[in-house]
Amino acid sequence: LQMFFLPPSISSKLLTRKQSLGNPSGFPSNFLLGTASSAYQYEGGYMSDGKGLNNWDVYSHKPGNIIVDGSNGDVAVDHYHQYLGDVDLMHSLGVNSYRFSISWSRILPQGRFREVNVAGINFYNNLIDALLLKGIKPFVTLTHFDFPQELEDRYGSWLSPQSQEDFAYFADICFKSFGDRVKYWVTFNEPDFQVTFGYRTGKFPPSRCSWPFGNCTYGDSEKEPFIAAHNIILAHTAAVHIYRTKYQEMQGGSIGIVLHCSWYEPISNSIADKLAAERALSFSINWFLDPIIFGRYPPEMQSIIGSILPEFSTTEKEKLKKGLDFIGINHYASYYVHDCMFSVCEPGSGTSKTEGFWAKSLEKNGTPLGELTELDWLNVYPQGMEKIVTYIKERYNNIPMIITENGYGDVNKADSTTEELLHDVKRVQYIAGHLNALSTAIRKEADVRGYFAWSLLDNFEWNFGYTVRFGLYHVDYKTLTRRPKLSATWYKKFISEHGKVK
Ligand code: NOJ
Repeated sequence: LQMFFLPPSISSKLLTRKQSLGNPSGFPSNFLLGTASSAYQYEGGYMSDGKGLNNWDVYSHKPGNIIVDGSNGDVAVDHYHQYLGDVDLMHSLGVNSYRFSISWSRILPQGRFREVNVAGINFYNNLIDALLLKGIKPFVTLTHFDFPQELEDRYGSWLSPQSQEDFAYFADICFKSFGDRVKYWVTFNEPDFQVTFGYRTGKFPPSRCSWPFGNCTYGDSEKEPFIAAHNIILAHTAAVHIYRTKYQEMQGGSIGIVLHCSWYEPISNSIADKLAAERALSFSINWFLDPIIFGRYPPEMQSIIGSILPEFSTTEKEKLKKGLDFIGINHYASYYVHDCMFSVCEPGSGTSKTEGFWAKSLEKNGTPLGELTELDWLNVYPQGMEKIVTYIKERYNNIPMIITENGYGDVNKADSTTEELLHDVKRVQYIAGHLNALSTAIRKEADVRGYFAWSLLDNFEWNFGYTVRFGLYHVDYKTLTRRPKLSATWYKKFISEHGKVK
């Protein structure tokens, strides 16, 4: 048997017999197949043409924040200036869609307090037009971790309800300016991660920290991540309300939110471990999706931290319900989960009360759940893709889902050669395995409408700077030259054989 997604030359070497039972017809004919990116990680041009500073510009410039290589996104991969070439690369891959985000402070340098930056609007108009000219559908995230610094300084971003109005104002401008051509909107990318890093562990701006473990020096309340999340949920709702009442009927698009969706596998058959795995899912994914779909926080959270969770008013609850058209799933890794409510765990991520009393590991008795990688948070367990999609399908009644990110990162070590980085067999294996698992979920009736590989190009990987590469194309950071890796060639072939994009 030969894995259908891989060229015969490498398929037999890479994949086990079990993984090879795929069926290309698992993908519907109008399935979106694309690559994903984000403004701060790609654009550069951080002061170009009237752009205002955002929280990541300021955070990355502060010594000690991006410790690993002292880098920042000032230039990133210079997509702001090289977008036409990048659209050509996408065209040569044959993708039918491109997920990118809008830099909020490029459109509104001072938030609501000054006028719109026309050059910013022009940039996205040009990008969108260039994509459409090549038959590539723009799939737009309104904000991917970035926030105008002016607003951060004025009132502290997501801790203040003012952020809801500012976001809604920004969203309205984007719908009005680009919605004639953009038919897919995402309000937020991984808000679960954003608030956990920004307001619990302090690893993202605004560097607030309420975590009981580690060196927490700022922040003053364990409630902060929940307040920030609450404002994000209401900001999402406000934007969706604007879209639905002013634009959707006329423009005919759809709107959703993207969550960081790891799969959590109970480490044993014990009820305690099974419940712990459910809590892990609830304290990350359902934290946002339950309010947006059902109008309330997940019962698993309410029973443990009911007194900490902010409340929704009756009007808000009504407005919240059915507040999306699709669920965006970023899936990378899977973990074993142990209970920490009835058992004693080593302190760490997940184990505190406000995180839901669970601990994760990549191995059980020395045997890994999936092949380990150079990144300590990433493993290769394609079944996790099928499991997470099936879980979300069941909990949310098969609302349309889109895989908004999935990808493989390798570490750019001092002795890595470009040739090695270009011959990215492991990335091919990872993506092929995950697409195969996804097609199985689709054949079992999961309503999945698209898949975006993270990422078209190597780029700025947040706290890891430029040391971790996720691209299908290699970027030489001295010359900014893009070169296709094996995975680009493979993805192109996969799309032409199974994508039916034209
Ligand atoms: C998810 C985030 O949305 C993206 O910004 C990041 O680069 C990838 N994960 C890889 O870590």
